[in-house]
Amino acid sequence: MGDEADFELRLKEVADKVTVALDQLIPPASGPEADLMRAMRHAALANGKRMRPFFLLETGAMFEAPEKTLLRTAAALECIHTYSLVHDDLPCMDNDDFRRGQPTVHKAFNEATAVLAGDGLLTLAFKILASSETHEDPAVRVMLIERLADAAGARGMVGGQMIDMLEEDSPRDLNTITRMQRLKTGALISYATEAAGIIGRARELERNALAGFSNDLGLAYQIADDLLDATGDETAVGKPLRTDEIAGKANFVTLLGVDGARQRVRLLAAQAKEHLAIFRNKADILLQSVDFVLDRTR
Ligand code: IPE
Ligand code: IPE
Ligand code: MG
Ligand code: MG
Ligand code: MG
Repeated sequence: MGDEADFELRLKEVADKVTVALDQLIPPASGPEADLMRAMRHAALANGKRMRPFFLLETGAMFEAPEKTLLRTAAALECIHTYSLVHDDLPCMDNDDFRRGQPTVHKAFNEATAVLAGDGLLTLAFKILASSETHEDPAVRVMLIERLADAAGARGMVGGQMIDMLEEDSPRDLNTITRMQRLKTGALISYATEAAGIIGRARELERNALAGFSNDLGLAYQIADDLLDATGDETAVGKPLRTDEIAGKANFVTLLGVDGARQRVRLLAAQAKEHLAIFRNKADILLQSVDFVLDRTR
C-alpha cells in the first residue's frame, strides 16, 4: 500500500474513534430537549474529516501521551469546530443549506434549534475538558480549558468570524485577510497541536516548533478551503461551493488568483514541514498530513 492509502486509512481510523466518542458524549434524549440533542447529533456525528482531532492525536502520539486524554480533548475540540460550522451556516452568517453532505441544522430543524445546538456543543466542549475522566491532574485540565477558551473566543475563532462578517463593508487587503484566516481557522488548528503538547508534557523547544508548524498549517488549511470554494467539486466537498464569489467576499483566491493561492499553500506547507525537523521520523504522519492539506479535494 502506498503512503497515501496508509494515510487515508489512519485518518479514517481516527475519524471513526472520534465519532464513537461523540456518539457517547451526546446521547439521545427524550422529553422537551429531545430535538436539541437530535440537532447536536445531526451536526456532530455527520461525515466531517475530523482533521483537528487527527492533528491532536497524531501530535500527542509523538509524545506517547495517554490516548484517552487525547481522544476526549480531540472530541471537545471537534464540538467547538462543529458548533462554529452550525453557526457559520446560519442565514445571518453564510446562509448555507448543506454541510458535510447533508442539510445544515437550520434546514433540517429550524434556526432557533441551530443556534441552541451550537450553544449546546460549545458548552459541552468545556464540560468534557473539566471532567476528571479527561485527565487526573486538575492543573492540566485547567490549562486545556484556558487555551481552548482563547482559541475559540473573541481573540480566536469568534474574532475571525467577526472580521469575516464585517468584510462586505470594508476593503480587504492581504494582511487583513491573513489575520482573519489565522483567527477563524488557524486558532483551532493551533489548539490541536498545543493541547497535544500540554498533554504530552512537551518541552519548550518542542512547543515552539509545534506552534510554528500549526501556524503555517492553519493558514494553509484555510487557503485550501478557499481554493476548494473556487475550484472544488461540491459532491466531494459536501457543502455548497463558489459561495465566497457569489457573496462578493475577498479571500486568498480572489486576492492572489488560483495559481497565486496554490503557490502560497505550497510555500506554507514547506515552511510547516521545516518546523517538524526536530522531531525527526516521529513526525512522519504529521508530514503526510501537510501533503493531505496541500492536495485536498474535500
Ligand atoms: C471547514 O472545516 C471550515 C474551515 C474552517 C475551513 P473542515 O474542512 O475541516 O470541515 P469538516 O470538519 O471536514 O466538515
Ligand atoms: C468558516 O469559514 C470558518 C469557521 C470558523 C466556521 P468558511 O465560512 O469559509 O467555512 P465553510 O467554507 O463554510 O466551511
Ligand atoms: Mg464563513
Ligand atoms: Mg461558511
Ligand atoms: Mg469556505
